[in-house]
Amino acid sequence: MLRRLPPSEATGLRTSARHSLAELYRPADLVVLGLGVMIGAGIFSIAGRQAATMAGPGVILSFMIAGIACLLACLCYAELASTIPASGSAYTFTYVIFGEVWAWIIGWALILELQLAAAVVAKAWAELTVRAFADFGIALPRHDLVGGALTAFILVVLTGVVAVNTRIGLRALWIMVAAKLLAIGAVIVVGALHVDASNFGDLYAPPKPLDVPPSTVLDVVIGQSHAFGWAGIFAAAPAIAFAYIGFDIVATAAEETANAPRAVPKGMIRSLVVATVIYLAVAVVMVGMIPYRRISTDAPLSSAFRGVGVDWMVHVIDIGAVLGLTTVILVLIVGQTRVLFSMARDGLIPRGLSAISRRYHTPSRMTLVIGVVAVLLATFAPVFTLQQLVVMGALFAFLFVSAGVIVMRRRMPDLERGFRVPLSPLVPVLSLVATLWLMVNLQVPTWAWFGLWMVFGMLVYLVYGRRHSLLAPPRDEPPAAARGRHRR
Ligand code: ALA
Repeated sequence: MLRRLPPSEATGLRTSARHSLAELYRPADLVVLGLGVMIGAGIFSIAGRQAATMAGPGVILSFMIAGIACLLACLCYAELASTIPASGSAYTFTYVIFGEVWAWIIGWALILELQLAAAVVAKAWAELTVRAFADFGIALPRHDLVGGALTAFILVVLTGVVAVNTRIGLRALWIMVAAKLLAIGAVIVVGALHVDASNFGDLYAPPKPLDVPPSTVLDVVIGQSHAFGWAGIFAAAPAIAFAYIGFDIVATAAEETANAPRAVPKGMIRSLVVATVIYLAVAVVMVGMIPYRRISTDAPLSSAFRGVGVDWMVHVIDIGAVLGLTTVILVLIVGQTRVLFSMARDGLIPRGLSAISRRYHTPSRMTLVIGVVAVLLATFAPVFTLQQLVVMGALFAFLFVSAGVIVMRRRMPDLERGFRVPLSPLVPVLSLVATLWLMVNLQVPTWAWFGLWMVFGMLVYLVYGRRHSLLAPPRDEPPAAARGRHRR
């Protein structure tokens, strides 16, 4: 179970052409991919909700805390992606560095992160679309069936695009990302003209003990939940981390990128830095326009602009948000396809799923499975309640990636690295600490659901993956001989 994938085989060289992806991305595409998947529900909805209920204007600091944690993790991802440019990202890194069972665990966590994120964002997309129509004076019936139909519609359309032609998806992505950046630019510029400095007065508002049972792991340890003040600012950070999710997905494009060892680290770091600057600017204008108590939890950014009498911006926000969330779902589906494709290619899930369609030149079978599961999840599971699980899945992978940098420098010092984390091992250690800190600020039920998901995953591995892995010894060969054959 601890057999390791040789680095030379991480991109599936051993497997046939039917299991390899065509080169598609140029360096600039990776930045667009990163911005496409990062800027979405996190900034359009979650940030305002956290400002109104948890952090007040201190949400700006929550963005900084989550941003620093993600930047540290991003540097670690960048080094590993530059050394092992495989589409499985953290899953493949872990396979090479720590061995198969850990790789499975990370792959299973990534499946949770990406599949649930696609369902959550699709559902949020449906809500935003209904609101956008209403703001334009077209009232769609406020019925669950309408929301469900819209959610299924967007998932089916985007799954179809990814399954049939990733290139068309890429062109559409560029256009939509440009449009959403224009909308966000307008939010920042017009919002800045209406900032009232007195609204920042409560930046360090005194913490308010909440009259609810402790809900995060940290709350349980200290025996009390707090909102606002430093406690609220820290408690909001993991929810805000949802906004940064996606820089890690850029790594899944490595196998399809020209000169990946250099291009992928740059693409990841650049897109994360740009997204962080955008988030901080939007957070500043949002809490600067109106007192945080008046920010609506339903439509935060629109409520801020309505509060200062700039109603026309509501339409700009609506269009930006609908396009913004569309690109998030699109890239999430692409990323999920690539991780599962790698796991199937390694034999840990049925290999047939990793086949590249002769007609479309994409892993279309895998893409369709992902689309169907996302529709089922969004329709039948309470995905908004489970939203923090997305962050949990991502943070769990951050832990292994951070530790992986330290271990790989020791075990495989001679592998060529297109990018090296500065000040290693300090930066990877700080990344570990920051990630753990965000994790203890996640809610206890999130940990419980995550534990259950992992136990289920281990059963799947024991029943299927362990036996069907391409590294599993053939039935008539003693295990020790096979290990010697595959290990470096
Ligand atoms: N970062 C993505 C969003 O905020 C997942 O929607």
